[in-house]
Amino acid sequence: MLNLIVATGNLHKMEEMHSFLDGLPILLKSMKDFAKFPDIEETGQTFEENVKIKARICFDFFKQPVLADDSGLEVLALDNEPGVYSARYAGPGANDQDNNRFLLHKMKGLQGEKRKARFVCTLCYKDRQIEKIFTGTTEGMILEEYKGRQGFGYDPLFYIPEIGKTYAQLSTEQKNAFSHRGKALRKLVHFLEQKRYLALPES
Ligand code: IMP
Repeated sequence: MLNLIVATGNLHKMEEMHSFLDGLPILLKSMKDFAKFPDIEETGQTFEENVKIKARICFDFFKQPVLADDSGLEVLALDNEPGVYSARYAGPGANDQDNNRFLLHKMKGLQGEKRKARFVCTLCYKDRQIEKIFTGTTEGMILEEYKGRQGFGYDPLFYIPEIGKTYAQLSTEQKNAFSHRGKALRKLVHFLEQKRYLALPES
């Protein structure tokens, strides 16, 4: 069994990871399951810089294999904003609702192709020997109004033309099948299987 501490306090990310990794010999814990955990400041300019910061601080603290996730939304017509500022787009202390409202405001008047966006998820697996990055991206459009009630963050505005739904209209399992996080997790699992970290005991 691989014991993995996830360097996040975001319960939605945890739920998606739990759902994706269900049935595999991995025991996932959020760092917030522990009485003490490090305070991590995301000072990087890219998802990759931030995810490495999270993984390294968390690994140095717990000295156990860790998984970090840095993710966000990139809107083409906004020069890839909000990007690494996705969680705090409307300002420090902003919640999902504030950020969604601010995004709609910034995109007012933009039509058609100008509403193209993509979600990026960068994962970093780190243990004593290995530090490895996995990335997943999903292309979509930003709607002018909310659709769906599931998920978190920008989910009700992120529409995938291929399936005719927003992320917020999908169950966790369905979202994982199409999402940036699901794609990055698939690469992580493939890597761990190749390394035989997920080898099941022979019966
Ligand atoms: P992080 O915790 O610094 O990685 O910030 C992630 C932010 O990006 C979240 O607070 C959301 O605003 C946004 N985000 C990342 N992944 C998703 C997703 O799957 N759905 C909706 N919003 C997301």
